[in-house]
Amino acid sequence: MQTIRDKAALATLIDSWKATGERIALVPTMGALHAGHMALVAEARRRAARVAVSIFVNPMQFGAGEDLDRYPRREQADSRMLADAGADLLWLPPVEAMYPAGFASTVSVTGVSDGLDGAARPGHFDGVATVVTKLFNQVRADVALFGEKDFQQLAVIRRMVADLDMAVEIVGVPTQRDDDGLALSSRNLYLAPDDRAKAVALPRALGVAARAIEKGGDPAAAVTHAREALSAAGFAVDYVALVDAETLAEPVDPARPMRLLAAARIGSTRLIDNVAVTAQQG
Ligand code: PAF
Repeated sequence: MQTIRDKAALATLIDSWKATGERIALVPTMGALHAGHMALVAEARRRAARVAVSIFVNPMQFGAGEDLDRYPRREQADSRMLADAGADLLWLPPVEAMYPAGFASTVSVTGVSDGLDGAARPGHFDGVATVVTKLFNQVRADVALFGEKDFQQLAVIRRMVADLDMAVEIVGVPTQRDDDGLALSSRNLYLAPDDRAKAVALPRALGVAARAIEKGGDPAAAVTHAREALSAAGFAVDYVALVDAETLAEPVDPARPMRLLAAARIGSTRLIDNVAVTAQQG
């Protein structure tokens, strides 16, 4: 695996891959890699001859008072995991290369990024869309892989790629979970042991609500029940919402796929999760 920190060196390597017509996959990450990221890398290997993984803790997607400074950085361990997983390239751009003096452009996706985390974290998805656009342009990937755990992020990126005619295929990969059901996340590293034990209430509450809705229960009651279960477990709830899986707007057609999403804080850690809600037939 090659590790590159310089844009010119990256361009030379990508040119050489393009010259031989090899399909390139990109897995964009912020590091502190876990089995969820490794599932993205494994899927990338199935879909392309060359697998590039970027690690960049993107300041533009963190709001004031968020965890930019304490976000876990584990470059050596990450690099070993990626080499073992058969990645071809680790792209580690420095902040100055991504946002040089005078940088003044933003990619903004409206609609799908307005509610949920977009409302709770103003500017977050502008930061995501901008950095992902830059990474696509730098790596010139044919396919890029993102985890479904960040379901709204995936929807924002799909919208952006479609709207801006970006020549990259977007693949969503199912959420990887610990044995008790907690979605894998780099932020789980923040959880104190007692908060980690309580955190399982998040996937449980979503699972219970999703099954109730699929059985024909009242969606509003199921959402309220999920909020109450989370509060009872010690979470401060940002949102629990049932949305259309593509538009992320309120579902208008119960025959279309839906998604139940939640964001909630346990201690000082904000967790997000989501589950599919199978469309009702007839
Ligand atoms: O999901 C993440 O880790 C980040 O939001 C991403 C897509 C790498 C952009 O910084």
